[in-house]
This record gives sequence, C-alpha cells and structure tokens, in this order.
Amino acid sequence: MVLIVGISGSKRPDSLCLTLVNTLLSACQKHGVETQLIDLSQHNLPFFDNRESWEYGADVDKLHELLGKADGFVIGTPEYHGSMSGTLKNFFDLLDFKRVLAGKPAGFCAVGGGRSRAQTVLDHFMVVARALQLWPVPRVVGMNHPDFQDFQVKDKATLERIEQVTHELVRAAKALKK
Ligand SMILES: Cc1cc2nc3c(=O)[nH]c(=O)nc-3n(C[C@H](O)[C@H](O)[C@H](O)COP(=O)(O)O)c2cc1C
Repeated sequence: MVLIVGISGSKRPDSLCLTLVNTLLSACQKHGVETQLIDLSQHNLPFFDNRESWEYGADVDKLHELLGKADGFVIGTPEYHGSMSGTLKNFFDLLDFKRVLAGKPAGFCAVGGGRSRAQTVLDHFMVVARALQLWPVPRVVGMNHPDFQDFQVKDKATLERIEQVTHELVRAAKALKK
C-alpha cells in the first residue's frame, strides 16, 4: 500500500493550514492510498542545534520512523514574512533528510493572509525541495482566508487544483515507490 504523510507547519489553534493539509490528505485517499498526518502543533520539538538527528529524543525518532515509511508527502505551511513557518523549517532541520525524505515526491500547499495566496512561500518551497532532494509535483495549492468557509475549502477552482495536485502526487508516489 502507498502511504502519503501530511505535514502541517502551523501551531495556531484553528489553523487553516491544518485544514488545507487535511483536505489534500482526504483527496489522496480518494486516489486509493493510505494517509497519516503530522500536525506540528501537537509536538514540542526541540530547536535544532546542529547535533546528529538521533540525539533529539523519542518524539523525533518516532517522526523519523513514520517519515521513513512514507512514499510521498503533502507539505503545508502558513506564509510568514514571505516564507515558511519557523516551526516547519526547524522540523526539516532536525531530520536526517537523506534517509527519510530524499527521492520522494511532495505536494506543497500554503495559506497566506494576503491576496497573493501564499505565492511567495510556494516559490520558496521549490528551492527548499531541491535542498532536501524531494521531488515536487508540478502544481501547488495556495489559499488565503476568504477562500475558506467554516473551515472547509468551498472554492471550485481551488478544489480542482487540489484534485490535480493530489492526482500528480499519488501518481508520482506509486511510480517512485521502492
Ligand atoms: C508572523 C506572521 C507573518 C505573516 N506573514 C505573512 C506574509 O508574509 N504573507 C501573507 O500573505 N500572510 C502572512 N501572514 C498571515 C498568515 O499567513 C495567515 O494568517 C495564515 O492563515 C496563517 O495560517 P494558519 O491559519 O494555519 O495559522 C503572517 C502571519 C503572521 C502571524
């Protein structure tokens, strides 16, 4: 079975980023894959201080274990000052990325407060994906606050985009599965 792991990089209660990541995971399930969520608001991860990845304790070990089983990722962030949240960046820094991320596909999504629908961080994600040796799927999902209604994605164009991104992601995960 193909496993897609979603990562939500927001710590805010009632996070729209978490809503969006969960929406993409549900769409992945419709393409016949299993999903699991890493909600970083539920983890108090230590700050990376350049020790080896196995020196950060049981929570980080468990996250490595789950990421290691994944065949692909949905990665979401709130846009903070044109980039990803510090929470998500610190998470990436803690990881032994060559062991658990490299060579696997990722679909990226982000939520911003402005009109640009988090386009800046979505562009930035492409650079970060290269550094982490992820395989980003071609399309991304960017949203802003008015695109959500009652914590649901209702906008037709965005739902179509979510369908495209998850289709690309699941196709890539199946093709690249080891
Ligand atoms: C510190 C901070 C910086 C932000 N910077 C940006 C930004 O550069 N561009 C933008 O569109 N929104 C920005 N926002 C708005 C958030 O991206 C927006 O509220 C988003 O919905 C947060 O996601 P969440 O609902 O998961 O918390 C910023 C918010 C905060 C708190």
